[in-house]
Amino acid sequence: MEPLQLREVLMFALALVMVVVAVALAPDQIQTLPGCNSTCGNIQIPYPFGVGNSSTQPQQPCSLEPKFDLVCNNSNSNLLWGDLTVLSINVQAHQMDVMFWVAGFCNDSDYNNPWITTADFSISRKENKFLTVGCDSYGLLNSNYDNRTYSTGCLTKCYGNNVEIDNGTCSGIGCCQVDIPPRMRNITIAAEAFSNSTRDCSHSFVVKQDSYNFSTSHLQSFPYETLPLVLDWTVGERNCRSFESSRSEYACKDHSYCNDTDTDIGYRCTCDSGYQGNPYLGCTDIDECKTGIHTCISEQHCRNTDGSYKCVCLEGQSGNGTKGEGCYHKNAVTKVVIGIASAIVTLFVATTSLYLIYQKKKLSKLREKYFKQNGGSILLQQLSTRENSSQMTQIFTEEQLKKATNNFDESLIIGSGGFGTVFKGFLENNKIVAIKKSKIVDESQKEQFINEVIVLSQINHRNVVKLLGCCLEREVPLLVYEFVENGTVFDFLHTQKKVDSETWKIRLRIAAEAAGALSYLHSSASMPIIHRDVKTANILLDNSYTAKVSDFGASRLVPLDQTEIATMVQGTFGYLDPEYMRTSQLTEKSDVYSFGVVLVELLTGEKAHSFCRPEEKRSLSNHFLSCLKEDHVFDVLQVGMVNKENEKEIIEVAILAARCLRLNGEERPSMKEVASELDAIRQKEMHPWINRDQNVEETQHLLHESSSSIYERDEDSCSHQNTGYDSIRDRILFALDNGR
Ligand SMILES: *[C@@H]1O[C@H](CO)[C@@H](O)[C@H](O)[C@H]1NC(C)=O
Ligand SMILES: *[C@@H]1O[C@H](CO)[C@@H](O)[C@H](O)[C@H]1NC(C)=O
Ligand SMILES: *[C@@H]1O[C@H](CO)[C@@H](O)[C@H](O)[C@H]1NC(C)=O
Ligand SMILES: *[C@@H]1O[C@H](CO)[C@@H](O)[C@H](O)[C@H]1NC(C)=O
Ligand SMILES: *[C@@H]1O[C@H](CO)[C@@H](O)[C@H](O)[C@H]1NC(C)=O
Ligand SMILES: *[C@@H]1O[C@H](CO)[C@@H](O)[C@H](O)[C@H]1NC(C)=O
Ligand SMILES: *[C@@H]1O[C@H](CO)[C@@H](O)[C@H](O)[C@H]1NC(C)=O
Ligand SMILES: *[C@@H]1O[C@H](CO)[C@@H](O)[C@H](O)[C@H]1NC(C)=O
Ligand SMILES: *[C@@H]1O[C@H](CO)[C@@H](O)[C@H](O)[C@H]1NC(C)=O
Ligand SMILES: *[C@@H]1O[C@H](CO)[C@@H](O)[C@H](O)[C@H]1NC(C)=O
Ligand SMILES: *[C@@H]1O[C@H](CO)[C@@H](O)[C@H](O)[C@H]1NC(C)=O
Repeated sequence: MEPLQLREVLMFALALVMVVVAVALAPDQIQTLPGCNSTCGNIQIPYPFGVGNSSTQPQQPCSLEPKFDLVCNNSNSNLLWGDLTVLSINVQAHQMDVMFWVAGFCNDSDYNNPWITTADFSISRKENKFLTVGCDSYGLLNSNYDNRTYSTGCLTKCYGNNVEIDNGTCSGIGCCQVDIPPRMRNITIAAEAFSNSTRDCSHSFVVKQDSYNFSTSHLQSFPYETLPLVLDWTVGERNCRSFESSRSEYACKDHSYCNDTDTDIGYRCTCDSGYQGNPYLGCTDIDECKTGIHTCISEQHCRNTDGSYKCVCLEGQSGNGTKGEGCYHKNAVTKVVIGIASAIVTLFVATTSLYLIYQKKKLSKLREKYFKQNGGSILLQQLSTRENSSQMTQIFTEEQLKKATNNFDESLIIGSGGFGTVFKGFLENNKIVAIKKSKIVDESQKEQFINEVIVLSQINHRNVVKLLGCCLEREVPLLVYEFVENGTVFDFLHTQKKVDSETWKIRLRIAAEAAGALSYLHSSASMPIIHRDVKTANILLDNSYTAKVSDFGASRLVPLDQTEIATMVQGTFGYLDPEYMRTSQLTEKSDVYSFGVVLVELLTGEKAHSFCRPEEKRSLSNHFLSCLKEDHVFDVLQVGMVNKENEKEIIEVAILAARCLRLNGEERPSMKEVASELDAIRQKEMHPWINRDQNVEETQHLLHESSSSIYERDEDSCSHQNTGYDSIRDRILFALDNGR
């Protein structure tokens, strides 16, 4: 190698070293006043702390205030604050770590009771804990400032040797610890032992968190004389507000601000955002572009400003130069924008239409699934074999019915119960309909649903509610009925205010019409139908109080060659045939029983079953029968309905009801007989001169039949109002079912 080259290489290396040194020193902020030592050993001494006087003229103290004066022992590089050894100083956190003595108590006497005499700095409550190590001992941490003394501390008692002490954690036995209260200044620490418990020494100390680990061996011999402790410091004795008027002695220099939250004496200085350094000497701007904390695409696009920075684009380019937006060529912009926009639009249109198609397919698949699940195919098959019924029963789409009910609006609900909800609906041809929405769909209810559709599609009777159609495209199938305006007989009975003989005429007609409808069902030519849930709530009334039997959800078709079928007992409490309940054998006579209860309801105006009544009267039918037995029929008849003209026919209906309610089904009249008897009674009422004798004969026959046994009176079950119809009362001695 040529000597010249060597020299050049050396020069280059030297230059390189200088650059490296410069770069390494650059971020190292100046932390002391000029002419002051910045370190003692390897401990940094940032301003406002300082050691001695500056070496430059004029000589001035290196610290801001006497309380920040430190002493450096150059022979052992020990930095001292008073007589405490300093470990480190932090200007940003305003903290100083020092070594502080441990208080001890041995052989019935203190051997150390350390204190910090100055009130200038307080014990950091965030960074420190107060601990006492020992058995049967306690420690005190006292603060005395402004003539106010207060103490905290903790105690630990072991009561002998057999206590398990956790090794490694300060759990409370053998070692206890407490948090430091705020603003503890001018402290003293004392370790004490409970008297006569001088087995071991005890030690108390304030220590920086995680700088002391307890060990059970510390109970026998404590290894530390001093432990680290953190002090909080502030400058001055004034608060920030006091500088608003006068800035003299204000310690916060350029680009810094004053903060005195959480301080009782003095204040702290902090650099403004975007600035760094020592606020007590003046903060300098942070070059965000160089330090890489900017959000520009690159350092070339970054321009540092005082306290901040900005991103720029090169000439001829657009954008704000941030990583989010970037920079781009101006004429490319429009192209890119148009390209992106059209791509987005195309993509949007494509996905939307695909999604819509998918949704539509999914919906129609779902509808198809429900249609099948709801037995739509069975129904269609059934309907196709009946030409006349298929004309009547219409299959509605879900859309039609949603429209008709304003998407099942709650204000259109006209009834609800265990079966589901009934909505009032308006079809497109302005026809008003009732739409029944079943509640849950399980396998058995699906059957019931199809059942009702099939049963009703076969019937065309003026006293049976007409099924117009159904909708099977939903998870919950829907039935569409003719709309019957005047509610149920149940509501009619139990909301009526005025009761007179006219009332009775209407009720008798309702009874006769309902009986006619049930009789028609029982004797239906193709297959008899048992309703199974005859009750006043299932008989509807139209404008002219024409009765219409409804709710065929539980109805059963009885094949012609069978007279009874075994089923699960089902029906409504208060109307249930006791024989059916016992045997589970369903016959037409179960409907007769239920109809008997309906008759009693019409006669008494009472509910079939009510917990509001005393126990013996809860079941209306039982109460009615016992009153009849005891010859007090007028006590149970509704007050106001009976007069001289109609008393006989009312009694006849009462007797008919009692026959319907016989325990033995075979002894009950058939629905046909009931219907014709009711018709006869009505005829007589309308044309009093017809058939009078025949009826008297019939009644007497009845009375004769029923007088075969006589019952004792049960004083409690009937009230004894004197209704003034003794002559009739005398005539009624019924033989009803026995075995009650
Ligand atoms: C600064 O430190 C040096 C040794 O590092 C010492 O000789 C000198 O006296 C110190 N100056 C002051 C002002 O303490
Ligand atoms: C520092 O200077 C002050 C006067 O500015 C003087 O009173 C003091 O004695 C000096 N201290 C030391 C340690 O030199
Ligand atoms: C400095 O440290 C040495 C060695 O530990 C000690 O002998 C001396 O007394 C100390 N000087 C001062 C001023 O504390
Ligand atoms: C306590 O006193 C006993 C004798 O009285 C002595 O042997 C022991 O060293 C003392 N312990 C301490 C810690 O001073
Ligand atoms: C510090 O406490 C001592 C007693 O422990 C007391 O005499 C002294 O006045 C206190 N200092 C201040 C500044 O309150
Ligand atoms: C504390 O009490 C002493 C004596 O009672 C009194 O002289 C002194 O001024 C008081 N200090 C403060 C800060 O109140
Ligand atoms: C402590 O010891 C003294 C004498 O040694 C005795 O009189 C006193 O009762 C003891 N106290 C307790 C609490 O054991
Ligand atoms: C205390 O224990 C933890 C975890 O074991 C360890 O990291 C830490 O250095 C220990 N501190 C001291 C002062 O021994
Ligand atoms: C507790 O731990 C220390 C060190 O981890 C060990 O020296 C000492 O024997 C332990 N004490 C017990 C009772 O295990
Ligand atoms: C002021 O100091 C408190 C306590 O250290 C701190 O929580 C707060 O954020 C500081 N306020 C400002 C504006 O920096
Ligand atoms: C730059 O543009 C992006 C995206 O438009 C925006 O989020 C960001 O706030 C802008 N930055 C500046 C400094 O204007």
